[in-house]
Amino acid sequence: MKENAFIYDYNNLLTTNIGDKEGVSFDDIIKINDKITKAYSTVFDKPVANTKAILEALNKTDLNAIKNSAKSIRSRCDAFVVLGIGGSALGANAIFKALTHFRHNELPKNKRNAPRFFVEDNVDPTRLNALLDVIDLNRTVFCVVSKSGNTTETLSQFFAFRKMVEAQVGEAWKEHFVVVTDDNQGKLNRYAEQNGLERFFIPNDLGGRYSVLSPVGLLPAAVLGLNIDALVAGAKAMYDASKSQDVWENAPLLSAVLDYINYTRGKCMSVVIPYCESLDLIGDWYSQLWAESLGRNAVIDGNEFKIGQTPVKALGTSAQHSQFQLYLEGPSDKIFTFIAVQKFKNDIPLPADLNDMFGQDVTKNRNFSDLINIERVASTIALTSFNRPSETITISEVNECVLGKIFMFFILKTLFMGALLKVNPYNQPAVESIKIGVKAILKSDTKTMPLRTIEV
Ligand code: PA5
Repeated sequence: MKENAFIYDYNNLLTTNIGDKEGVSFDDIIKINDKITKAYSTVFDKPVANTKAILEALNKTDLNAIKNSAKSIRSRCDAFVVLGIGGSALGANAIFKALTHFRHNELPKNKRNAPRFFVEDNVDPTRLNALLDVIDLNRTVFCVVSKSGNTTETLSQFFAFRKMVEAQVGEAWKEHFVVVTDDNQGKLNRYAEQNGLERFFIPNDLGGRYSVLSPVGLLPAAVLGLNIDALVAGAKAMYDASKSQDVWENAPLLSAVLDYINYTRGKCMSVVIPYCESLDLIGDWYSQLWAESLGRNAVIDGNEFKIGQTPVKALGTSAQHSQFQLYLEGPSDKIFTFIAVQKFKNDIPLPADLNDMFGQDVTKNRNFSDLINIERVASTIALTSFNRPSETITISEVNECVLGKIFMFFILKTLFMGALLKVNPYNQPAVESIKIGVKAILKSDTKTMPLRTIEV
């Protein structure tokens, strides 16, 4: 397999592998050719401003400015803390887990080559206090990320930490915060400007969950010492490859089409299973992208539809021992996306002691990476034998370039799926109602105790 390879394999979605009832035939795809052409056109020929912003972020983000700021941040802190939520947090966390040492924060400083790294994407006080127990505020830089600049969770964290830092270092608190936001009238941008905080801007039309390849994900990545040029180059390579109008040459489009056909046949859940622990948080990032972009109460041609495929995050091999019984014998309402890695960052030989259990030499020339891949193959074979649809993305290795390709694959797949489902994948009207609700309850003196309760 070539360096930085990304291979999309859809064999186990086809009738040839899982039978006529569950599989998709070439005819099934040809029948919806008009829809496919239209979906392609929605994304590439007549892109709305939000779609254009995805490419603009790749082409126009000033990577040198990010690298220079990251260099300065790295020299002045031992801990780098991202304060954000949803699309302002999940991408950075996925990058961190995918591309740094598994025990990054536990490594001694000379082996880390980057500050310890934390993403605080909740307002649970116990968690926030726990963070304070392991960081030194004098040597911490906070990266406050909010596209709108008005998110209650993020702003409450920001103001709380700002006060604590000021109490320790006085006016120098300003050097402990960098802000990533929209260049708009949001509270965060105005506050940062008034106080002279370092700012990076998210392109105006770039939605939160689509922003991982802007300063939202790239600044944390650069602070971690990662190669952000390669991340962006990988994403661009996937974007360019996906401009092919031939669905058989266009991985995100074909994947969306196959998923769409499955969805129309009742596959209402999309399970993503990396067989590589460092890609675990890609599952969280993908889940938000898929759920928030496609879950809709849509009115199409005057009729109301509840639309959406529930994303499920799983991890191989652990899921085999927890969820696969359901996946194999339970309701056939899921479509599976495996992520396979050919070459792991490092390896361990399989111990020869295992041979006794098998009564033959099964370990010769085999490593743990072979074992995890054998487990994955066994899982896909099992799903196929139960006629359950699955696709597999195989990557050569987990590095910046390949991760960029993965991000862009799922972003484009989501856009194509949105076009096929005829939904706007950019807004999130129902989520906004919670944001508004939180603010309304905070402003009132409502107590949140429900009326009918059972106390035990
Ligand atoms: O994808 C989205 O738009 C949302 O999930 C947001 O990222 C999330 O609500 C946080 O919003 P903001 O970045 O404005 O603080």
